[in-house]
Amino acid sequence: MSIKVFIRNDYQELSIKAAEIVEETVSDNPFPVLGLATGKTPTGLYRQLVADYSRGIISFSNVKTVNLDEYAGLSADDTRSFAFFMKKNLFSHIDILPQNTYIPNGAADDLSIECRRYSYILKNLKRDIQLLGIGSNGHIGFNEPGTPFDSTTYVVRLAESTRKDNFGAFGGMENVPEMAITMGISDIMSAKKILLLASGKNKASAVREMLLGKVSEDCPASILQRHPDATVILDRDASRLI
Ligand code: PGA
Repeated sequence: MSIKVFIRNDYQELSIKAAEIVEETVSDNPFPVLGLATGKTPTGLYRQLVADYSRGIISFSNVKTVNLDEYAGLSADDTRSFAFFMKKNLFSHIDILPQNTYIPNGAADDLSIECRRYSYILKNLKRDIQLLGIGSNGHIGFNEPGTPFDSTTYVVRLAESTRKDNFGAFGGMENVPEMAITMGISDIMSAKKILLLASGKNKASAVREMLLGKVSEDCPASILQRHPDATVILDRDASRLI
């Protein structure tokens, strides 16, 4: 088992390659299930998917999606929620049925019941592919360094570095939620295929640790070395330390 690595010149080319892989997954399966991610990194991929849908190259009418994570305390119509991000960047531009898109409910009254509900969904929807970004600290989803590899969906306290990386949308650190719901590492690993994207210099050292470091809970992404079908797409900047 080794991670397949593609290096592309820039973010645009990285996004095109990622769309090619996602679209292959959609075409190869009668009822595809996509594990999706939010953040800056996948927006180029989503733009490409929307463009290909508009040109009639791909349809999402049979697709189901399950997202990685959501901030605690934010409802789906909060413009800073990941649910809102998905609508804005992908779902409202393609032919996916809203009832086929799953994302943890950050506004649930009881977050631990919500985690159990989400785990049940994950058990029943076998993901053909799980898309991931990587945090500058090596996190995947919101699984911060130190998270047990056997974790399933849970409520996490976000690392300061993660809150800092994401404060843009919140107009200040003090407004960034402290907690989130995330798929666990074992949930991520149970997808048939993994596709991780990384762009920019600030990801280079986490990328090195993931690909060349020892498999360790100190770098959650290093677990991908043990996945039977993991692919990583990097731009030049993210690949500069490998
Ligand atoms: P980013 O986040 O795509 O906004 O860099 C990735 C992540 O933290 O997983």
